[in-house]
Parts: sequence; structure tokens; C-alpha cells
Amino acid sequence: MKKRVTKAIFPVAGKGTRFLPATKSIPKEIMTLVDRPLIQYAIDEARAAGIKDFIFVTSRGKSALEDYFDHSPELENTLRKAGKDDLLATLKTTNMDSGAIAYIRQHKAMGLGHAVWCARRLIGNEPFAVILPDDVIAAEKPCLQQMVEAHAETGGCMVAAMEVPPEKASSYGVLDVRQDNGETVSVQGMVEKPPVDEAPSNLAVIGRYILTPDIMRNLSRIKTGSGGEIQLTDAIAAEIEADRDVFGYRFRGQRFDCGSKSGFLQATVAFGLGREDLRDEFDDYLRELMSMRQAAQ
Ligand code: UTP
Repeated sequence: MKKRVTKAIFPVAGKGTRFLPATKSIPKEIMTLVDRPLIQYAIDEARAAGIKDFIFVTSRGKSALEDYFDHSPELENTLRKAGKDDLLATLKTTNMDSGAIAYIRQHKAMGLGHAVWCARRLIGNEPFAVILPDDVIAAEKPCLQQMVEAHAETGGCMVAAMEVPPEKASSYGVLDVRQDNGETVSVQGMVEKPPVDEAPSNLAVIGRYILTPDIMRNLSRIKTGSGGEIQLTDAIAAEIEADRDVFGYRFRGQRFDCGSKSGFLQATVAFGLGREDLRDEFDDYLRELMSMRQAAQ
């Protein structure tokens, strides 16, 4: 029987230089999309997928992230006394069960693959998910839940894949497809940031993975690759070379790259418009803004 995926790694040890100066003192993952930090979206998605163990790979300067998931008795008391039950309920979504959350330090930012490898002792011999909180996905059924369900059928390693126009493929890891089964594709190769005319497909890998423990063994052997970093892509490619199954999963939903300024702004607009309590006023404002811009041209 295939093992259920109950552990997820959240690599959050990156420096977030694209958001300097904000990230000088605030972890990128605490930056707020409407009224919740990025990390909360990732946690909610993991919970919906049945994840029970949450493993954060952190680095220096990320203590705000650890505090975020702690109880805040004083604030809770104040809200209770003021009868603000709705706010208390909102606050509760940030609390984690005792022992459900673990923090591992990545002492040096040596890349995503290295960050994942830092959690190897907590993973043991089970399949596990990796969620990059920078990638926020708006979806009716949360993306990782879709993947866990598909993975229960396929086993192996699975990466979330999204179709991108050819000129954009060079910004991503791109799948070389062996067989296209629609929702899933079986993969015969992965190329990190290929030159524009050399991309093997239009399927780009984004920040959701379900991986086998073999990936940890591969990461132990990998030397630093492009940019002096240990790439997760290389460890997945090694699975293909060893003739083990790797699948791409075409998720249903819209992905926002909140690791970039433009992606973050787009997500803010989309999630703002998606909120019932904000939609009308925000929509009016955007329309007014657009017509003023058009009139000025
Ligand atoms: P990014 O490539 O977005 O890097 O990492 P970054 O440092 O976060 O941001 P920029 O490019 O400087 O603005 C993708 C994911 O991998 C994690 C990051 O925290 C992010 O979730 N990561 C990256 C690590 O945990 N460790 C690393 O050494 C590198």
C-alpha cells in the first residue's frame, strides 16, 4: 500500500533580496497578502491536504515566523474581554497543535535542494510534500490536496506543473514529457531555466512537490550546481536517471509568484477582489483608476 503524505517541508531560509529593504527586518513569508501573511496561505493549503507535521527550514532573522505560530495569551485575553469572538476565531487559525511544528536551521543559503536536505532526519522513510510559500495558488480545491489525491494513484515523485508561453519558459524548471495523460504527465527529464528555444515543453515546475525519501539520498550526493547552490531539480532528475517514476501534475488554479514584486501586486488585486467584504469598494476603486488612466492617455 502507498504511504499517505502527512509531512510537509516549508523552505523559508532564503534571503528574499527582491523585496529589500522590506526583508531587511521582516521575513518574506510574513509579508501580507490582504490580511494574512504568505505563510498562512501555505499552512492552510497543507492542512487541507491532510498534512500533520509541518517542518520549517529557517535561517537567521526569521524569528517573527516562529512567533507568528505561537499562542498570544495577552492578545487573546483582550479580545475575549471585549467580546470580539470573530477576531478570536481568526487568531485561532494561526495556532498549531503542540508538537506539530518543527524548525530546522539552514546555516547557509545553499539553495532549495540544500534547504530540503536539512530536514532529512525528520522525514525518515516516508513520502513528503514541499511547499514554497512564495507561490500562492488560488484554487477551488487547494493545489496540494489535488496533488495528494493524484499521488495516491501514481506514487513516485510529483511536481506541480503549469503551462507557460515559450518566452517565459526560460525562467522556470521545464519538464521533458515522456507521456501526456492529461492531468498527469510522466517525465523523462527536467531542465532548469533552458534558453528560450531549447525548452523541451511548455510545462513549468512551480513550488509544490510530493517527493520520495530517495530524494534525500540523492541530495546527499549532489555537489553544488548552477549558481553555487544545491538544486532540488537535480535530485528529482536523478530519480528519472535511476528509472524511477516522476510525474508532472497540471493543477487546476491560478498561481501567483509572490517572490516577485509584480506577482505580489497581482496577487493582492486578485485576492482583494476575491474577498466578499472588500470586493465592491475595491472593484469601484480599480474601475475609477482605470478610467482616469485612460482619460489621461
Ligand atoms: P528564492 O529563489 O525565491 O530565493 O527561493 P529567496 O532568497 O527566497 O528570494 P530572492 O530571490 O533573494 O528574492 C525559493 C524558496 O526556497 C527557499 C526560499 O526561502 C524560498 O521559499 N530557499 C532558497 C531556502 O530555504 N534556502 C536557500 O538556500 C534558498
